[in-house]
Amino acid sequence: MAQVITSADQIDFTVDERPSMPLPTEVLMVRPLHFSVDYVINPHMADQVGKVDKIEANNEWELVRSLFDQVGMNIHVIEDQEGLPDMVFCANQSLPYIDEDGNEHVFMSIMHADERKDEVPYIEQWYRQNGYKIHFLDEDNISDFEGCGDAIWHTGKRLLWGGYGYRSSLEAYETISDTFDVPILALELVDESFYHLDTCFCVLDEDTALIYPEAFTNEGLEMINKMFDTVIQASKYEAEELFACNASCPDGRNVIIQQGCTDVNKNLRDNGFSVHEVSTYEFLKSGGSVFCMKMLLW
Ligand code: ARG
Repeated sequence: MAQVITSADQIDFTVDERPSMPLPTEVLMVRPLHFSVDYVINPHMADQVGKVDKIEANNEWELVRSLFDQVGMNIHVIEDQEGLPDMVFCANQSLPYIDEDGNEHVFMSIMHADERKDEVPYIEQWYRQNGYKIHFLDEDNISDFEGCGDAIWHTGKRLLWGGYGYRSSLEAYETISDTFDVPILALELVDESFYHLDTCFCVLDEDTALIYPEAFTNEGLEMINKMFDTVIQASKYEAEELFACNASCPDGRNVIIQQGCTDVNKNLRDNGFSVHEVSTYEFLKSGGSVFCMKMLLW
């Protein structure tokens, strides 16, 4: 059922009606030996050039990795490359998918910023070695698409959410929807601090999402409210300063989240989730946290 949907009145199915998709079991991470803030491509990076503590960043990354391990995921690690200081954010270079026959597919990204374009072939190589069917977008017609930074699977369902406006274009979702044969609910992003969908929208389980509402249009909020029974809202402080919505809930139960999101964490616990806090302060300097430091796979 290929379709790109931009308003709630175009949605003629319920989440329950969408075919199920297995939960991911694997996590891909990129070791941040060369991570730093060398340029400014989002508002969080302003004033942070040269300010990353590399040793601390590596320690934080190891703790994030051990939390994914603790909640039962299998971890795969790629080494990063000198001169590609954002390669650690491996949610961004691709969008993987498992079809109904269990075959693994991936769309490779067209990075918005020139500074990040050379990351993509390294990630592509990993998919190639691991037997994925690799798909490409038409660079003549689509200007940008930043993978799972903007394209987020609805937990356990053949249904995709797609952010656009800063790093990905709406047109990208037509091709992706046709190729994967899934409907895509497209959400326009309207606040530059929330430049990727994964900075303001986190699917926790089939029925629950965590969002920062001010990052969306009314049309977008209507779609979110129509598809989730429970929508937890993060405050501006926890969303913008602590990247609360950049949490990851790989199994619909355990939430790995930046330390200190007090109000969000209370809400998560009240809704039955287990919260695992971790410090990602060095990565926040670059505009990223837990969700974008990994890729979930099957
Ligand atoms: N400095 C990186 C960038 O601006 C951070 C990416 C964070 N990734 C994410 N999915 N939010 O591209």
